[in-house]
Amino acid sequence: MSAIRVRPPGDKSVTHRALVLAALAEGRSLLERPLASLDARSMAGALRALGVEISPLREGAAVVVRGRGLGGLRAPRHWLRCGNSGTTARFLLGVLAGFPFAVRLTGDASLRRRPMRRVTVPLSMMGARFEELAGDGLPLIVHGGSLRPLTYDLPVAAAQVKSALLLAGLVGRVPVRLTEPAPSRDHTERMLAALGVPLERNGRSLALSPAERIPSFQVRVPGDISSAAFMVGAALLRSGGEVVLEEVGVNPTRAGVLRVLERMGAGITVQPRGETLGEPLGDLVIRPSALVACEVTAEEVPSLIDEIPVLAVLASRARGQSVFRGVAELRVKESNRLELIARNLRSVGVTAEASADTLWVEGTARPPGGRVETAQDHRLAMGFAVLGTVPGARVRLSETASVAVSYPAFFNDLKRVTAA
Ligand code: S3P
Repeated sequence: MSAIRVRPPGDKSVTHRALVLAALAEGRSLLERPLASLDARSMAGALRALGVEISPLREGAAVVVRGRGLGGLRAPRHWLRCGNSGTTARFLLGVLAGFPFAVRLTGDASLRRRPMRRVTVPLSMMGARFEELAGDGLPLIVHGGSLRPLTYDLPVAAAQVKSALLLAGLVGRVPVRLTEPAPSRDHTERMLAALGVPLERNGRSLALSPAERIPSFQVRVPGDISSAAFMVGAALLRSGGEVVLEEVGVNPTRAGVLRVLERMGAGITVQPRGETLGEPLGDLVIRPSALVACEVTAEEVPSLIDEIPVLAVLASRARGQSVFRGVAELRVKESNRLELIARNLRSVGVTAEASADTLWVEGTARPPGGRVETAQDHRLAMGFAVLGTVPGARVRLSETASVAVSYPAFFNDLKRVTAA
């Protein structure tokens, strides 16, 4: 039998960074295979409102961005709407900190509940001013202007915060020195370095020096390992046959899920497929596997933070008790993922428990059954849809539309991966 081959959608993190950096570059940049989901459209829409010309984001189409240069954004006429996208909100707060006008930002109900002080506090140290309209979160108004250099120890390992501060340094043309408590995804650093921005890395510390300009560029966006992880999960739960996921980004700061699955006994091989703007790509070859429980350490959580919903689902099918430590950040994602993973696993008949920062999941061979509350969180919907592919499962999702946030073709691909 020949393998089932699926190409996961473009990487969300890389697409966001490519859009922002192309907007700040000089001239015409070309993004091949970018993500064309709701989150990516939120970023593109906000950048257009700031005067950047961006061709339509459509599945399968390349996107052209006409950059306005580091100082070239225009004051928008209306509120900037960031939809469900935390990356859009936090990156734009960083960028707008360096522009001498006021901008109001808001987002959907989920995004308005997410913390923004983690970005606005260090950006205020650089000289930007923020008016909170509803406490720690959106909506808020950013008053940017000329910025001061920053030296800052990040209290949480969060790539969105790190990137917002690097973007502020880039736009404000001031040095930024950061130290992270644990390594978070380093796409921004790789892209800035590939574009010639002076950036020194030394263990957990990095230092950005001012650049006069950034050149336009061309990038082929890798497949999203966070989206691919759901297909990996479905492929592992099959009863036979091989699945190949093509051209997935396997940057080590993002690929923690592969390391944990290997420890769980998953049959996954990575076949290298080159590099794009400093990002390594690989084909993932997956064979159905009997899984054993895992222990995930706090240190490795940033490298697999978005994959915990699917890892928890797989842990519910593994032999033994799995534990995920240091996962409190899951409480401030698109939903309170920590509580909802545990509660939904229990709803479908799995023993699972969440404490302040730890998740325990007990594996079972019984088919799962029951109703799952996704809370409009795309990764909960996709994780539990994967659990629904187990033979004999009767898993009902409260909604499925949220998958469009990061993976519009999710149900099509899931059908292909689970086809007999
Ligand atoms: C992202 C960083 C992570 C991740 C999010 C995307 C990024 O968030 O959960 O989906 O592109 O930098 P935090 O930086 O808040 O951990």
